[in-house]
Amino acid sequence: MTLIDSDPDSDLAPLEFAVTRNLLGASPERRAEILADPGFGSSFTDHMVDICWSVRGGWHRPRVQPYGPISLDPAAAVLHYGQEIFEGIKAYRHADGSVHTFRPDQNGRRLQRSARRLALPELPVPYFIQSLRELVAVDGDWVPSGNDQSLYLRPFMFAKEAFLGVRPAHKVAYYLIASPAGAYFTGGVRPVSIWLSEDYARAGKGGTGAAKTGGNYAASLLPQSEAYENECDQVVFLDQDGNVEELGGMNIVFVYKDGTIVTPQSDSILEGITRESLLQLARDRGHKVEGRSVSLAQWREGVASGDIVEVFACGTAAVVTPIGLLKGKDFIDEQPLGSLALSLREELTDIQYGRREDTHGWLYRLDA
Ligand code: PLP
Ligand code: COI
Repeated sequence: MTLIDSDPDSDLAPLEFAVTRNLLGASPERRAEILADPGFGSSFTDHMVDICWSVRGGWHRPRVQPYGPISLDPAAAVLHYGQEIFEGIKAYRHADGSVHTFRPDQNGRRLQRSARRLALPELPVPYFIQSLRELVAVDGDWVPSGNDQSLYLRPFMFAKEAFLGVRPAHKVAYYLIASPAGAYFTGGVRPVSIWLSEDYARAGKGGTGAAKTGGNYAASLLPQSEAYENECDQVVFLDQDGNVEELGGMNIVFVYKDGTIVTPQSDSILEGITRESLLQLARDRGHKVEGRSVSLAQWREGVASGDIVEVFACGTAAVVTPIGLLKGKDFIDEQPLGSLALSLREELTDIQYGRREDTHGWLYRLDA
């Protein structure tokens, strides 16, 4: 197994996983039926990975076991205080049948940063990557091969200690589940409409906005419902000063008419790996890239004056999705549509699916 050279844990010995096969898994026919139209996030593979952690024992009892309900003490801290983090990463089937993932070291490091913020233990990156390999070793047949399809991998970690005092838990569980995935938005790749959350914030200065923790998503659900009530696909959040932050589950990127690409930068935004990769591809093409604040007023004026020529959302689940409409309580702004978002999407997915040379060394083979 190749470990990540620059990681301080790269000389850790691999864990010894105990593997229990699921004898009641989906039949090949049922699996084929699911893979023919997987949707997003509603079907799960036959197995899951589970590693325990405790203050005394560190990381221990690594297992691959049949997918199924988790038994938790009703006093488990996660159920009361939300001490939880997660990741999202995909496995892609290449034309030769091999299975690859994209920049897993980055997701592993982000899980560690999220862990630090939520006072959870940091899973060594080599263990994180090994968990992906172990699951794909038993559930590799669940990686779909259709256009734009993938196996969405969802690693997560939570406080399982039964204790109602408010302090970091002494017992924690790391799990990995997997879900075959097609397009995140119904209707495939199409411009989406965005609702501006004017009454609710997602994150604040010094809060947990940069961590991938369930609470951030819980805070986004009411405004996301408002978005649906207003016939919008997603919600966009501002900070206290009126600067654009991000969507409920995606980063946002603005394209200016001189080719400059701008994306909001702040301590309360999730550092998206898709965004970082797209910005690198854009730099490779000669685009100037800036991480800086963009206020709502600058967005609206930029679109009105023609300075902003494209706006898009990006993330693991959404890949790259053009934004076609911004709607607020008392305005509707159509967004200009261009070709850059879709051409960057094509370049990125060509790399992920092995159709184009991976010059940055971003792919990691999971099944060998
Ligand atoms: N912002 C939020 C709130 C997200 O949930 C996601 C998705 O993971 C992203 C941004 C994009 O991150 P990434 O590209 O690493 O998936
Ligand atoms: C992802 O893109 O991986 C996300 O986590 C976004 C959303 C599905 C929560």
